[in-house]
Order: sequence, then C-alpha cells, then structure tokens
Amino acid sequence: MKKLRIGIIGTGGIAHAHMRAYEKMDDIEIVAGADIVPGKARKFLDEFHLDNAKDFETADEMLSTMNLDAVSVCTYNSTHAECAIKALEAGCHVLLEKPMTVHLDEALEIMKAEKKSGKIVTIGFQPRYDSRMKKVKEIVQSGVLGKIYYIQTGGGRRRGIPGSTFIEKDLAGVGALADIGCYALDMVLNSIGYPKPLTVSATAYDYFGKNEKYTPPEDAKRFSVDDFSAAFIRLEGGITLDFRMSWAMHMNTTGATIILGTDAGLRIEPANPESLWGGAWDGSCGDVTLFHDEFSVPTCTPIPMTDQGEDRFFLKVRSFVDAILENKPAPIPTSQIIYNQAIIDGIIRSSESGHEVDIVIPEI
Ligand SMILES: NC(=O)c1ccc[n+]([C@@H]2O[C@H](COP(=O)([O-])OP(=O)(O)OC[C@H]3O[C@@H](n4cnc5c(N)ncnc54)[C@H](O)[C@@H]3O)[C@@H](O)[C@H]2O)c1
Repeated sequence: MKKLRIGIIGTGGIAHAHMRAYEKMDDIEIVAGADIVPGKARKFLDEFHLDNAKDFETADEMLSTMNLDAVSVCTYNSTHAECAIKALEAGCHVLLEKPMTVHLDEALEIMKAEKKSGKIVTIGFQPRYDSRMKKVKEIVQSGVLGKIYYIQTGGGRRRGIPGSTFIEKDLAGVGALADIGCYALDMVLNSIGYPKPLTVSATAYDYFGKNEKYTPPEDAKRFSVDDFSAAFIRLEGGITLDFRMSWAMHMNTTGATIILGTDAGLRIEPANPESLWGGAWDGSCGDVTLFHDEFSVPTCTPIPMTDQGEDRFFLKVRSFVDAILENKPAPIPTSQIIYNQAIIDGIIRSSESGHEVDIVIPEI
C-alpha cells in the first residue's frame, strides 16, 4: 500500500501534537518539515527520529521538491493563509490549525484556492471530537429546545495569557478572541448548524496583557493583541449570540454557555469555574442541564456527561487522513468555519471602529 506523503509547515508547539498523532499511523509517512527559523525543522524531525525526512527553511522549497499528498499547517495565525494557499497550489490537502486566519478576506482566498485545487482543507478544532461536545450537539439537533433564539457563550481564563508568539499582533493577529474564542464560537455554531452571521457590535481590551502587574515585563512590552472581548452578534434566523472571551480578568468565569429555545433551554457549565485556565469551550464541559416544563411545572433535568477519554488530537488528525484516503469531504469544512472567521473579523472591525458592522460573505 502506498503511504500518504505528508509534510509539516511550522514546527513549533502545536506541530508536536500533530506529529504525536501521525506517529501512530502506518498508512502515512512524514517525509518533510519546514520552518522559517533556521535549524528548527531539523531539530523537530530529529526529535521524532525521522532521519530520512527532509528539512527546509521555506514552505515553497518543501512544496516544490517533495511531491507531497498533504500538509499540516502549524504556523502562527498571520501566516496561515499564505501557507495553506501555497500548499493547495502545490496539489496538497491541508489540515490547517485554528483559527482559520486572522481576517475574513484571507479565509476567502483559502476557499478560492481550495475550490480551484479540488483538494480538501479541514480546520483543526479538536474539541469537536470530544464525546461531551458531540452530546451537546445531539441534544440541540434533536429539536428538544424548539426554536432557538438566544445564545450566550464564551467564558475564558482568570489568568491565562499564553506568551510566546500568541501575544504579538504581527504574528498572532488577534489574542484571546481568536485563540480560545474561536472554540467557544464553534461549540455553539456547530451545535445549531452554523447559521450565517449578519452583524457584530464588539469591544476589545488589553488591560492585563500590557500591565506588568499581571504579565512578565518582557511579554507586557510586546503585548499588542486583545486579552478580553465582548460582542453582540446577530445570526440568520433571528438568533442573538452574546459572546465574551478572556485570557485574563478579575473574575472566575463569565458564566455558563446557555442556549434558549421556545420549548427548552440548555445550560453548559465550565468543568471547573475556579480553574485559572479551563473552560467549556475546549470540550471539557461540566454539568449540562436541560430547563423545560413538565406538566406545566418548570423542571430541570441534568444530562450526565462523562469524559470518555478520547484522544481528541489523534481523532482530528486521523479524520483528515481518512477523508483523503476515502475521498470524503473535509471533516471540519471551510464552508462552516468561514462563518466563525467572519465573526472574529467582525469583532476586530467593530471594536476598532467603535460601532456595529455588517458581515458580508461573498459566495465562493
Ligand atoms: N489546536 C490546538 O489546541 C492549538 C494549540 C496551540 C496552538 N494552536 C494553533 O497553532 C498555531 C501555531 O501555534 P504554536 O503554539 O505552535 O506556535 P509556535 O510559535 O510555537 O509555532 C509556529 C511555528 O511556525 C513557524 N512559521 C511561521 N511562519 C512560517 C512560514 N511562513 N513557513 C514556515 N514556518 C513558519 C514559526 O517559525 C514557528 O516555529 C496557531 O495558529 C495556534 O492558534 C492550536
């Protein structure tokens, strides 16, 4: 059997999670890695004992010489689009880390390149593979809530500014909003079937990231993204999405995710509201309760959720490989995530301009 030839673009932190998943597969071969930091790709490949894999300092060189079937794009957010597009133009399928991009126009360019290439692009939202997240979607999709009209989601960390390449605008583009906000958005939008976003009114702050009281001085000096944002989003179908996301704040949680429908409401608690880092958005949701009337009596039904211990990172990478081998559509397609990206782009535009903005997404 011919093995899929896979390359990694960007061999930093998250590339290790991709590699640990690929390592477990015998129908693929990691044949190359590329990173713009000299020597970084070689060191990464050596860590995984891939002596025969080739290292490159540019994605271009790797893509033009290695005859790859697919790539994982694990670069920081600001180079997602350029790397994904180059890979598609070289005839590769793409597993692209979240968030899809920083701005909507870049995400649309990826979709154009994807369509032209006939290859698939899947976005790396591993919480989708958590059984608790699947159960939340199953409850919502069952129709038990009736017509859904209001959603509150987000949450965030009390203290959890990541540092590294996440806090510089030139590299990450956006902060908490895109780093963990994109997960909270995916959790609820995927559950309700990804309706189109129409308008956004938002604010964003950086009070903690720039303050040496809360952030190491060397990080505070280069901090140039958001550490908290709040947004009021109108979705198609008369649905309101009330969103807030934090990397740092003087609060344990901004509350549970709630989904209100005409027949019932669903509340999804964070697994541990006292955790400085955690939140429901990453799949590790805590108590889930259905609020409904029984015999005209307001009733609450707890829905037991168990952590079934899935290896979400493995499943995300494996679903990409399976889609390629079985000629199936992308498991987490750009046609959905473009709406997630459009909201992030809308939040950036609205918070910068100080007023509500329209979301316009051209057909690709
Ligand atoms: N799914 C998850 O749980 C998860 C977790 C962490 C990070 N991420 C995402 O993964 C991405 C990377 O995060 P990270 O923590 O690994 O960052 P990182 O800074 O550790 O690694 C990124 C690497 O990409 C390289 N790079 C940048 N542009 C490049 C280019 N044009 N060509 C080749 N190499 C390039 C950098 O030199 C760096 O080594 C981000 O988009 C982040 O949001 C996802």
